[in-house]
Amino acid sequence: MKIKLYFILFLCIIFSCKKEAPITRGLITKNAMVVSARAEASKIGSDILEQGGNAFDAMFATEMALAVTYPYAGNLGGGGFMVYRLNTGETGALDYREKAPLAASRDMYLDSLGNVIPNKSTVGAYAVGVPGTIAGIFTAHERFGSLPIETLLKPVIALAENGFTVTKKQHKRFMKYDSIITAVNGKTTLVNKDVPAQSTFKNVALAETLKRISKHGRDEFYKGETAKQLVAFLSEKGGIITSEDLALYEAQWRDPIRFAYDDLTIISMSPPSSGGLCLAQIMKMTEPFDVSQYGQNSLEAIQVMVEAEKQAYADRSYYLGDPDFVNIPVDKLLDHTYLNNRMQHFSFDKPTPSDSISYGTLPNYTMEIKDNISYQEHNETTHYSIVDQFGNAVAVTTTLNGAYGSKLYAENLGFFLNNEMDDFSSKPGVPNVYGLLGGKANAIAPQKRMLSAMTPTIVEKNGELYMVVGTPGGSTIITSVFQTILNVHEFGMTMHDAVNAPRFHHQWLPEEIRMEPNRFDDTLLEQLKNLGYTINETRTPVIGKVDAILILNDGTLEGGADYRGDDAAVGF
Ligand code: DON
Repeated sequence: MKIKLYFILFLCIIFSCKKEAPITRGLITKNAMVVSARAEASKIGSDILEQGGNAFDAMFATEMALAVTYPYAGNLGGGGFMVYRLNTGETGALDYREKAPLAASRDMYLDSLGNVIPNKSTVGAYAVGVPGTIAGIFTAHERFGSLPIETLLKPVIALAENGFTVTKKQHKRFMKYDSIITAVNGKTTLVNKDVPAQSTFKNVALAETLKRISKHGRDEFYKGETAKQLVAFLSEKGGIITSEDLALYEAQWRDPIRFAYDDLTIISMSPPSSGGLCLAQIMKMTEPFDVSQYGQNSLEAIQVMVEAEKQAYADRSYYLGDPDFVNIPVDKLLDHTYLNNRMQHFSFDKPTPSDSISYGTLPNYTMEIKDNISYQEHNETTHYSIVDQFGNAVAVTTTLNGAYGSKLYAENLGFFLNNEMDDFSSKPGVPNVYGLLGGKANAIAPQKRMLSAMTPTIVEKNGELYMVVGTPGGSTIITSVFQTILNVHEFGMTMHDAVNAPRFHHQWLPEEIRMEPNRFDDTLLEQLKNLGYTINETRTPVIGKVDAILILNDGTLEGGADYRGDDAAVGF
């Protein structure tokens, strides 16, 4: 009898040891959903949908609600990208990336000896690119929106006037950036260390700006009172953006990057973001390997994925820039044979040294750069995903670049200005804040858009909407989106588990795999090191903050709101 009991106990122990981590689903809704960095913004977007608005109406309201509640990255003073898929299956992309001002020049961040001047492209008015966000949301709304702008902005203005509750994580960020924001502005701003968690945060100046935009429309920001105040403020602070720069700004419709991976079709952002193209290269190079057999975050899967990432980031640094200024060989870079050749030196025995990898050679291609287009022609980021009750989807990633952008806060207008100029290559061979290298394709020129890594992405499965996904994270954006898609598709994870899984990243140079600390098995880290990989767990302790929506088999929606932030899914 005793032996029998011991045997049962033994079986129980074995069974419980073998038990997999519990599978968790995120919020499930029947009709529609918004997932963003703040619950208030997701709620406003979802309410707009519930009032009968569509995904583009919700985009407008969510984007502005993030500017109120998430000044870290949500913005009027920055830019972004949107990828959409209508319920008819039509897809497209909108580029509302910032542009270099007319007075910008290739060497504007170099000293007389040709060295990059520290902080000049990252801090203060001289780092600011011409903002695109207001043009972006209005352009999307003009084509696809259905509710009046006043209706979309009403709850946002109320939120700015009545305030929202500061979260613990938000307070921490206020503390962290307080001294630099105060130094740049010469005084304490609304965003400062004395705003404790649980306090109510109001932004009356922003409410006033939004009221003017609600009344006068898009041109209020680019030609009206707001434009006047903005230009005066920037010039007083040493910036070079003029009223002409603002008046010239237009968002651009672009054809998204579209590619197949198994039975998925992936639609992602095209240049001037490198996101879609690099994602396509990485996924196509990974596709021939049976990563699902290797297992999620297994040694072999990481090796294959890292190799593909290195190859793609090497191409990025050479070939990619603003397509209005440089002829990007998109088809050649996505050619099947070309990508297979890129992986031919891959071995499971040891890493391919980064210094033996360069951009690939393409047949019949010569780079042509326009230095200056006649202007008569017409680091922090946040992502949100929306699916509406009509079956339309939008994926939007928007940014000020750095945390609170250039740290320059336009007090009378109630918003921060970006430091997106740092996404250009200030000097070939000198990395930007994300350690990314660039060459002449991404050199600064007046009116040019700086290369981005933002990767708002929509995935179809068997021709139907399947996933909406994206993330902040600078250079790690592309690889975070990549891992999230594989987590669902190859490793069978729920949307919730896929966005919350540990992440790693390689960008060719520097020669290291960045890994989130304390999230990977020690044995795995040892195995990687023994094979010759360099592991860096300190450079980017948080890799991405993914917000995504998955369409389940029964047609319901599952939200994935990353635990790394205050992100939240709201829907009905
Ligand atoms: O466009 C880009 O790639 C960068 N400006 C994004 C910056 C970013 O994601 C910062 N967030 N962590």
